[in-house]
Amino acid sequence: MVTCSACGHSFSPQFAYQVATLGSERRHFCQLECRKRSLGSEAFRGKRARRVAILNQKGGTGKTTTAINLAAGLAERGSEVLLIDTDAQGNVGASLGIHGERTLYHIIVDGMDPMEVVVPVRGNLDVVTADATLAAAEVWLARLDGARDEVLTKRLASVGRRYQYIILDCGPSLSLLNQNALRLADEVLIPVSCDYLALVGVKQVLRTLKDVDRHLGHAVRVAGVVPTFFDGRTNLSREAVDTLRGHFQERLFEPIRRSTRLAEAPSRRQTIFEYAPDSHGAEDYRRLVARFVDGIPTHVEHGADQTTGG
Ligand SMILES: Nc1ncnc2c1ncn2[C@@H]1O[C@H](COP(=O)(O)OP(=O)(O)O)[C@@H](O)[C@H]1O
Ligand SMILES: [Mg+2]
Repeated sequence: MVTCSACGHSFSPQFAYQVATLGSERRHFCQLECRKRSLGSEAFRGKRARRVAILNQKGGTGKTTTAINLAAGLAERGSEVLLIDTDAQGNVGASLGIHGERTLYHIIVDGMDPMEVVVPVRGNLDVVTADATLAAAEVWLARLDGARDEVLTKRLASVGRRYQYIILDCGPSLSLLNQNALRLADEVLIPVSCDYLALVGVKQVLRTLKDVDRHLGHAVRVAGVVPTFFDGRTNLSREAVDTLRGHFQERLFEPIRRSTRLAEAPSRRQTIFEYAPDSHGAEDYRRLVARFVDGIPTHVEHGADQTTGG
């Protein structure tokens, strides 16, 4: 139990907004109103968050695994991260061991303040969970008269500067929820499982991005394509990566290897960095996080005439 810095009420913090760190001092607020009254707009000021949707219309390509470990890796590096589950399967919460009492449904349909929904799960890492009620949110969106794809962007406007990164774990469909996620995002990261059909999936994703561009007048950049379930011993995996490199060139990320530890981590309710920090999975996702932060490498990787010596 802690004491509310604004009204003196005793309570147990449950939501991210209920704890504020100001320098070395910690303050607690029982209600959002108390926080706003005490801290005003200073409470949530910062630079605009980098917003990335983890997208692929195909299921089982490693979207949720990538969303969780990218978010966890960024948080571990000290950035403030908000991870939002936009898939009704609700795998993000299940994988991290939380069942949000409130979910994305409450933000979209009820218009609840996002900070009353967000749950702090690890240091620097906050989550908005999802569950089967999102199917009802989809129906609700479909019945709106106009601007069906802008709801999420409007609802989250107040938190855009509170975080350095907003990561959206998308479901495998062309739903209105995904259109909302794309509307909010500036960029997408596309995990592609190293099998032939997944390559077809990438073409679908690129078509969707073009549609978003054309219909919503909002260009979404491909931050990167991530080969997943990579097994260097098989021709299929190596060929998949070659094909992807042909399409995406410098936007192709290093592959994430198929790893038992990655498959096991969610059942332990842990990220790969917690569950098996020395595993291939952790190594691969650490590299992905670094690459995501640094952006497209500017040096020529195979440049024969780079004579820096050493
Ligand atoms: N590189 C990997 N190696 C082994 N298993 C993985 C890997 N990436 C994901 N998985 C497992 O595969 C399943 C599907 O991955 P998931 O991230 O949920 O895909 P999606 O969100 O695209 O449906 C999950 O059980 C997950 O734990
Ligand atoms: Mg998923």
